[in-house]
Amino acid sequence: MDRSIRTVEDVFRLLDGLFVPDADRWTDGAAGWWDGFYADRTRPVPFFAAKPDENLVSYLERGLVTPGRALDLGCGPGRNALHLAAAGFEVDAVDLSPAAIDWARDRAREAGAEIGFRCGDAFAPAGTGPRGPYDLVHDSGCFHHLPPHRRVSHLALLDRVLAPGGHFSLTCFAAGAMGSELDDADFYRQSRLHGGLAYAPDDLRRIFSGLEVVELRRMRDEPPRSPRFGEPFLWTALFRRPVSPS
Ligand SMILES: C[S@@+](CC[C@H](N)C(=O)[O-])C[C@H]1O[C@@H](n2cnc3c(N)ncnc32)[C@H](O)[C@@H]1O
Repeated sequence: MDRSIRTVEDVFRLLDGLFVPDADRWTDGAAGWWDGFYADRTRPVPFFAAKPDENLVSYLERGLVTPGRALDLGCGPGRNALHLAAAGFEVDAVDLSPAAIDWARDRAREAGAEIGFRCGDAFAPAGTGPRGPYDLVHDSGCFHHLPPHRRVSHLALLDRVLAPGGHFSLTCFAAGAMGSELDDADFYRQSRLHGGLAYAPDDLRRIFSGLEVVELRRMRDEPPRSPRFGEPFLWTALFRRPVSPS
């Protein structure tokens, strides 16, 4: 007989456990799933190329974000963390997958970049995850792999680590172009996330309603030879945390 639920974290863990192990990118075995995904570095996966997101480059070029402390959330092989370090940011980068962090470390070593890598769950309860305050939190492709209840953990992380006046930049699957459009409840009924969740612009505005929208647009399609990564099936968003809560 299990009567272990007492806290919100207990509820989150129960909901995490409703997803079939190994069937998805969010389960106890998620780190292993991502390790397998990154095992062959030569695979033609668009985001395996060491190119930064075009929207991130554009924010920097336009002065919408300026160097400070940055967190690359779900950094994978570190392409955006490297760009931020080269642009003068002091960068921390976290990912669940040891293979991703090993690859990102190799790239940082080759580039001579100092980046504070951490391997683990970015949404672990306060005290064990990333430590702010950060002037910029960049999430490229991590948010859309979270089950609906873990949006709460994502928002709690931003609340803990994003400095007042700091920016949160996001790229995620765009409804109609990529990702599953099932209703939230159906992911639990089916025990699967179907490769990631699609979002509409109003969803993003509502979920991140505690932040001001600076820019919300589709990612630009960058040709293969471009030094930037760009895929039009993604939303890009830049939010700013108000200096004083409204
Ligand atoms: C689609 S990949 C994107 C990687 C990288 N941001 C990029 O764009 O090149 C999503 C990444 O999120 C990471 N991830 C998923 N859940 C995570 C969690 N709870 N904590 C930290 N990283 C996580 C995965 O390991 C994976 O590397």
